[in-house]
Amino acid sequence: MKILVTGGAGYIGSHTCVELLNSGYEIAVLDNLSNSSEKSLDRIKEITGKDFEFYKCDLLDFEEVNKVFEAEQVDGVIHFAGLKAVGESVQKPLWYYHNNITGTLNLLKIMEMHKVYNIVFSSSATVYGNPKSLPIVEDFPLSTTNPYGSTKLYIEGILKDLFVSNNNFSVTILRYFNPIGAHKSGLIGEDPKGIPNNLMPYIQQVAIGKLPQLSVFGNQYPTKDGTGVRDYIHVVDLSIAHVKAVEKKSDVAGVHIYNIGTGNGYSVLEMVKAFEKASGKEIKYKICPNRPGDIPACFADATKAKNELDWVAQYNLEDMCRDGWNWQSKNPNGYEE
Ligand code: NAD
Ligand code: UFG
Repeated sequence: MKILVTGGAGYIGSHTCVELLNSGYEIAVLDNLSNSSEKSLDRIKEITGKDFEFYKCDLLDFEEVNKVFEAEQVDGVIHFAGLKAVGESVQKPLWYYHNNITGTLNLLKIMEMHKVYNIVFSSSATVYGNPKSLPIVEDFPLSTTNPYGSTKLYIEGILKDLFVSNNNFSVTILRYFNPIGAHKSGLIGEDPKGIPNNLMPYIQQVAIGKLPQLSVFGNQYPTKDGTGVRDYIHVVDLSIAHVKAVEKKSDVAGVHIYNIGTGNGYSVLEMVKAFEKASGKEIKYKICPNRPGDIPACFADATKAKNELDWVAQYNLEDMCRDGWNWQSKNPNGYEE
């Protein structure tokens, strides 16, 4: 079975390529490299000892994407390609809607033209807005607070409408919680451009001395220690969830929606402590005002993924911090030499 991985050069995509290849799938990768490096593809080949085609192609270019489907007989698509920076999406909403939604519409039209009816889509816990209670279950009400989140919610709606119009489709929507860590080889990992927006890449850059200290955004939330609580999940566990989704759902028509998280909530200060332990480095921090739009706490009920995908997270917080530090310390400048 051959899977086209859009956004396969990126952080989660590259890890998923490894898990697909190790599970015996053939793959082809489509990416415009707008937020990634082609070197990640060499590293995937190094880890797995397997080869695959790469198409440097933009989902906004209908003709070029169509050519990929003409060249490759794919059985399904895992669709990671998209822009993901929340703050930037507030500054450039039209660009985010265009890239993420038009890109997805092109992909879906071409899939239908070529009778490729399986898709796994990268959604996010951001579609739950500020949840009414915790843990979060898939049928909670949906809302968003920024254009990035809205692109996810609208694409979910587009996929549901597509299935209504064409019952051949098998659509699996995975709502990720907070992916961190890296492959244990230290060859692939998260390589944010510029100053990181997210907590763990920021902590990792403080640990290697690239940034002086962490700003902790708020310590007055109604949480265990006042700082924000999230459900951090090892990127390899998240990647395995994609393989399970293909295995279990690709021949089951319908729209299947799963939370992919561990079910554990850790605070910012707990993350700082865990990372200090894993790295042996002190993480200096200062308490700062809340980041606008942040919610106090968010963690998953992932029972549905356990029951229907036979998927459960295997890695704990210590593993996530160890593997994140292994990547960062071996590649202080990410994929750049
Ligand atoms: P990433 O930026 O590392 O990977 C996305 C990839 O898509 C990049 O390689 C980028 O070059 C490519 N891309 C973007 N627009 C494209 C286009 N028009 N055509 C072709 N390629 C394009 O991000 P990631 O962390 O690996 O995230 C993957 C997916 O998961 C995204 O859709 C993201 O929104 C979603 N997601 C991520 C998180 C997270 O915290 N990392 C959480 C929830 C959901
Ligand atoms: N935080 C800090 N300092 C920082 C960065 C983050 O204190 O420099 C705090 C935040 O306030 C929050 C926690 O660390 O309490 C996690 O923040 P992240 O930015 O790492 O993650 P978010 O939960 O805010 O958002 C992430 C992705 C979104 C996605 C969401 C849910 O960035 O795209 O998870 O999946 F939608």
